Amino acid sequence: MLKTGFVGWRGMVGSVLMDRMRAEDDFNGIEPLFFSTSQAGQPGPDTGYDVPLVASAFDYDLLKKMDVIISCQGGGYTEKAYPELRKNGWKGYWIDAASTLRMENTSVIILDPVNRNVIDKALKNGIKDYIGGNCTVSLMLMALGALFEKDLIEWMTSMTYQAASGAGANNMRELVKQMAVIGESARELLDNPASAILQLDRQVISCMREQSFPCEYFGVPLAASLIPWIDRPVENGQSREEWKGIVETNKILGRLDNPIPIDGLCIRIGAMRCHSQAFTIKLKKDIPIDEIESMLAEHNQWVKVIPNEKEISMKEITPAKVTGTLSVPVGRIHKLNIGPEFLTAFSVGDQLLWGAAEPLRRMLMILRE
Ligand code: HSE
Repeated sequence: MLKTGFVGWRGMVGSVLMDRMRAEDDFNGIEPLFFSTSQAGQPGPDTGYDVPLVASAFDYDLLKKMDVIISCQGGGYTEKAYPELRKNGWKGYWIDAASTLRMENTSVIILDPVNRNVIDKALKNGIKDYIGGNCTVSLMLMALGALFEKDLIEWMTSMTYQAASGAGANNMRELVKQMAVIGESARELLDNPASAILQLDRQVISCMREQSFPCEYFGVPLAASLIPWIDRPVENGQSREEWKGIVETNKILGRLDNPIPIDGLCIRIGAMRCHSQAFTIKLKKDIPIDEIESMLAEHNQWVKVIPNEKEISMKEITPAKVTGTLSVPVGRIHKLNIGPEFLTAFSVGDQLLWGAAEPLRRMLMILRE
């Protein structure tokens, strides 16, 4: 049985991972040991099986006994623990949600419904580091997998509408707090249907501009607004989140030597945990929409092609519908007026599932096979 160490299983991504593993009975057939940076000696999580008490995440001797370590602890822990273990000759599999090791030559970015061939080749070649991808990239590939698999894309842009969860648990809390503060400040006017709409509007904006408006984590209001920048600047005017679009996509596909150009703007909006994206795709040739729709739908069991009609689009391709599910709806599919090779589409996916926890548990299951 695979001795599997879990680090960071109490955090947001870690908790989603635990839920999914319990739901799929993944703990059957592995020997789990739970590590913590602060709760050593406490009982472990409910896996459906007896589990030993939690060990220290800095007990490197114990960590070295694991066949596999899955970390959702974040980049700081990876930077510390990973080199320590490898330096001391640990040869186990390292599965990580953090971005630290993603672009290393010695790692593969995992998204098996899209790149199982890359993963299998890496396993055969003795690669030991399997890293979860950036959430928008993984969700984009789950939605448009077929177009990449069939090499039909000349270039594309992805304009994102990213949820608060991508920034962290405190940010999700802050978003709801901002909504509550706005709602509270506008209550009287809302309760009076005869109140003037511009008065309500002035009340909301003046509340958002108060010094005391809760902005500790986002730095600015997100509720009733948006934030047109995610992560730090890199080069050519791009943010790091935008840069990941091209490098991670092409690394996942195993084509860094022949990359598909991808770029766009990454924007934070007031959704809780679903990232949405609008795509502009320059196809290599003119392909009829019905053919595109069938190939997209056939690529994997989670992508769901939604007809480009108003009512069904409004119901199906939204964070409100998709949150907490593995479904990746893609719709609004049509050719742009620019020309027959220019395709547009819109997609939504749960940032904590396919965007974070799901590829990790699936990698563990590949190792368990
Ligand atoms: N960087 C992403 C975001 C989340 O800020 O939404 C993790 O991939």
